[in-house]
Amino acid sequence: MLASECGTVRPAMVDAGSSFKLVDVPGGLPLFGHAGVFKKDPLQTMADWWRRYGDVLRFRLGPKTLHLFSHPDLAEEVLIKQADRFVKVYDPRRPVGLALVLGNGLVTSSGEIWKRHRRIIQPIFHRTRLTAMADRMVQIGEHRIAGWPKQTEQPIDIAAEMMALTLEVISHTMFTTSVVQHIDQISHALRISLRYAFDSFHNPLHPPAWLPTGRNREFRRVMAFMDDLIYGLIAERRGSGKRHDDLLDRLLDARDEESGAGLTDQELRDEALTIFAAGHETTANALAWTWYLLAIHPDVKARFHEEVDRVLQGKRPTVDDLPNLPYTRALFDESLRLFPPAPAIQRKAVTDTMIGGLALPAGSVVLIGTYNLHRHPAFWSDPERFLPERWLKGERSLARYAYLPFGAGPRACVGTHFALIEGPLLLALIGQYYDLRLAQDRVEPQLMVTLRPKGGILMTRHPRRRVATSAA
Ligand code: HEM
Repeated sequence: MLASECGTVRPAMVDAGSSFKLVDVPGGLPLFGHAGVFKKDPLQTMADWWRRYGDVLRFRLGPKTLHLFSHPDLAEEVLIKQADRFVKVYDPRRPVGLALVLGNGLVTSSGEIWKRHRRIIQPIFHRTRLTAMADRMVQIGEHRIAGWPKQTEQPIDIAAEMMALTLEVISHTMFTTSVVQHIDQISHALRISLRYAFDSFHNPLHPPAWLPTGRNREFRRVMAFMDDLIYGLIAERRGSGKRHDDLLDRLLDARDEESGAGLTDQELRDEALTIFAAGHETTANALAWTWYLLAIHPDVKARFHEEVDRVLQGKRPTVDDLPNLPYTRALFDESLRLFPPAPAIQRKAVTDTMIGGLALPAGSVVLIGTYNLHRHPAFWSDPERFLPERWLKGERSLARYAYLPFGAGPRACVGTHFALIEGPLLLALIGQYYDLRLAQDRVEPQLMVTLRPKGGILMTRHPRRRVATSAA
C-alpha cells in the first residue's frame, strides 16, 4: 500500500480552545517553492507533510501560497461556519484549472449564478426520482457485465470498467441518452482534459495555453470533441421537443425568476459537462478502490458475499434491498474513507479572517486535506486498516467532520444520495456474479483531480453464478 503508511503518526496539534500552530513546510526553493516535490506526487506529499509537520501547514507552488488544513475543526470552519468567507478559487473572467474544462458550472461557479443553478439542479436528486433511477442503474450494470469477455480468467482493468459503467449510468439517468458508442472517446477526452486542467493549476512550469505545444493542441482537440457532443445533445433535445423529465429537461425549462430568461447554450453546456464529469469519475474510482480493498481482504470479501447471497437470494438488487445490506454499505463507506475520490477540497478566503486562532489575509488559498482527515489517529481507531465493521459500530459519530468524502456545508456534493445508491447497488450486483481477484502485484494511488488507481487495476473474475444476458 502507501509507502508512508508504515511511518509513525504525529498526534493532533490542537488545544481545547482550538488554537492552532501554523508550520511553514521547510525546503521551499526561491521562485518554485515546493512545486518540484508536490508535482511528483501531490497526494503522498500532502500526507507526508501532515505526518511530519502537523495539522496546519503552509507551502508554496511557484508564486502561489497554499495552506493545508488536516483537522476537523478547521474543516468545519472553512466549509460550514465561515462558508460565506471561503469560496471556490475560480474566476469566470480568467478560467484556470477545472474551470478550463467545466466552465462556470455547479462545481466551479460561485455567488448568485451558483445559487440559482443549484436550485435548478437539486430537485433532480430528490429521493423519489432516485428510486426510479436505481432500477436503471442495475439494468445498465447487468447489461455491461453481460458484455465482459467470456474468458473469465482473462484479466480486465476493473478501474476502466467502472469508469465506463458509471459514465453510462450518468448519461442514461441524467440525460436519457446512451453514449455507448462514444464511451471510450468521452473517457479519453475527460482524462486528457482534466489532467491538463489539474497540471495547469498546480504546475508553475505549465506552458501557457497560446503556445502551440502538443499538449495544448491535444487539449483543444478533446475539448472540441466534448463541446460537439454536448451541444449536439442540447440541439437534439430542443429540436425533438420530446420530454424526458431528466436533468436536461430541467435545465432547458429553467427560467430566471425576475427576467424570465432561460439558460444560455453556454450555461447548459457547462452544467451538462459538469454533471458528466463530477457524476461518474468519482463513483467509478470509489468502486475501483472498493474492489481492490475487497481483493486484498478475503475475510471482508467472504462476509460481503455472504450478505449479498443471503439477502438477494439470486434476485436483481433494488433500492428496497439497500437497508438490508448494511455490510455492503459499510465497506463502501470504509473505502471512501481510505481512498476518498476527492482527497482535498480547495477554497479561497474572500476577506481577511481569523480561523482557529490564525489570521488569514484575503486571497489565502486553503486545502482541506480529506485524505489526511480520514486517516487522522486522533479521530479514528486503527486508521490505516480497512475495517468496514467500524461503521456498524457507529464510529461515524466520533468524527463528524473527520469524514468528508462528499464535502460539507452549502457546497457539499449534490450527488451524495445518488452515489450512495449507485455504489452499493453495483457492488451487490457484481458481487453476486463474480469473485474479483487481483491480477497484479502493486496498486498505487494517483491524484489527478480525483484519486485514481495509477494505470488501472487488473483483476480476474471467478464466477459465483451465471451472468444474466439482459439487454439494457
Ligand atoms: C462517490 C462519489 C462521489 C464523491 C466522493 C463526490 C465528492 C464530492 C465532493 C467532495 C464535492 C464537494 C467539493 C467542494 O466542496 O469543493 C462534490 C461536489 C459536487 N458533486 Fe460530487 N461526488 C460523488 C458523486 C457525485 C455524483 C454521482 C454527482 C452527480 C450525479 C456529483 C455531482 C457533484 C456536483 C455537481 C458538485 C458541486 C456541488 C456544488 O458546488 O454545489 N457527485 N462531490
